[in-house]
Amino acid sequence: MKRESFGGRFAVLVAMVGSAVGLGNLWRFPYLVGRNGGAAFIIVYLVIALIICLPIMLSEEIIGRRSESNVYGAFRKLAPKSKWNIVGIISLITPILIMSFYCVVGGWIIYYLMQSCTFHLVHGGATDPDMFGKLATRTWTPMIYAFIFLFLTGFIISRGVQKGIEKYSKFLMPLLFFCTLGIAIYSMTLPGSSEGLRFLFKPDFSKLSLNAIFEALGQAFFSLSLGSGLVITYSSYIKKNESLVYTAFSTSIMDTIFALLAGMAIMPAVFAFGMEPSQGPSLIFITIPLIFAKMATGPIVAVIFFFVVFVAAITSSISLLEIVTSFACDQYGWSRKNAVIIITSLVVLPLMVICSLSTGVLSNFTIFGKNIFDLFDYVSANVCMILCALAFVIFVGWKLKYESVEDELSNHGSLRISPALIKTLFFLIKWVAPIAITAIIAMNFM
Ligand code: TRP
Repeated sequence: MKRESFGGRFAVLVAMVGSAVGLGNLWRFPYLVGRNGGAAFIIVYLVIALIICLPIMLSEEIIGRRSESNVYGAFRKLAPKSKWNIVGIISLITPILIMSFYCVVGGWIIYYLMQSCTFHLVHGGATDPDMFGKLATRTWTPMIYAFIFLFLTGFIISRGVQKGIEKYSKFLMPLLFFCTLGIAIYSMTLPGSSEGLRFLFKPDFSKLSLNAIFEALGQAFFSLSLGSGLVITYSSYIKKNESLVYTAFSTSIMDTIFALLAGMAIMPAVFAFGMEPSQGPSLIFITIPLIFAKMATGPIVAVIFFFVVFVAAITSSISLLEIVTSFACDQYGWSRKNAVIIITSLVVLPLMVICSLSTGVLSNFTIFGKNIFDLFDYVSANVCMILCALAFVIFVGWKLKYESVEDELSNHGSLRISPALIKTLFFLIKWVAPIAITAIIAMNFM
């Protein structure tokens, strides 16, 4: 059976950006920037994106397109009879863990979107200070909404690469961009909004601690969907005549633009209404609804806002499911539909149910002081993704070597790309990224 592929350059870009732009951009980036010294943090973030994340993304692209295989199969193909396929197995754990809590959040988003559409959110709901607490601690309601979110994700993935991922991303991502831009412009024209822009952009190098650097690294990994085999999987669908360097640069740039735009949409409004900036669920599900309740235009802005959050979340969630689906189809020869049904119902659903209950009846069940929801978040982002990313760059820099990198980045010599650029990128892959990641892990332990 012929392997599927993306239709063209634009399709690759929207699919990659669709995966990258998600909850990470909306609810963590703006807050991290504000708390860690504004523009000073942005500069650190950009440096990390350029010297650590770009080489990782290129390495994943090279592994994916060269092997034309899923994350596990890729190592089997490129390094047969070696232990490298263990890396492939560990990479498969990450998307499963992330999906388990992503669907729970996706469920909350659908609930809030529906409450916005019926205007219940602004008239009544949001003014109840514990609306979110009441939802998250219930047993059945959040689970049912999480299931709807999982079902939608599974539906899109079961349609395939071109008819599913590509078709929905092409339509949803431009829409997402213009809606976010619209809200940002509106938010920045509110009286008193300049305080929010100052929070975001005023450089303050004194707030830039060592901890801020860890946070920037973790955030960049999560936001760019690195270290989980996502880029390997999507790149296995990139045609041989597309430029990998172009894709990596433009995905990183677009993701950062989205994150900044999200900050400009959220923070000015937070300050204009005299609220405290926060992050995570409390920002999106408590602070922002309170703002909508106070805004004259709240009912309409609320619908657009939760639609934006929903689109950002679903295009990321499909990418997570695709990593595992592509593994099942390639390795076991299952049909896409069967793979999606089996993975979602037997693997993701049970874990999702536990995650959903962990904010309610199971909240007292903790491991290392974290409930299951937070534990999955921690293990995936701080352990699996970092280790796998390190393995990916070492694999490309030390096992595949320069010739393969040159071959892939220049499309077997048919692409006009400066040899100096390839040499620099290879140097980043072979030396800079592995050393920087190891150093940051080491510092984290101390
Ligand atoms: N990048 C997404 C976000 O910012 C999350 C995400 C989607 C992800 N796919 C991933 C993270 C794969 C790691 C790996 O919310």
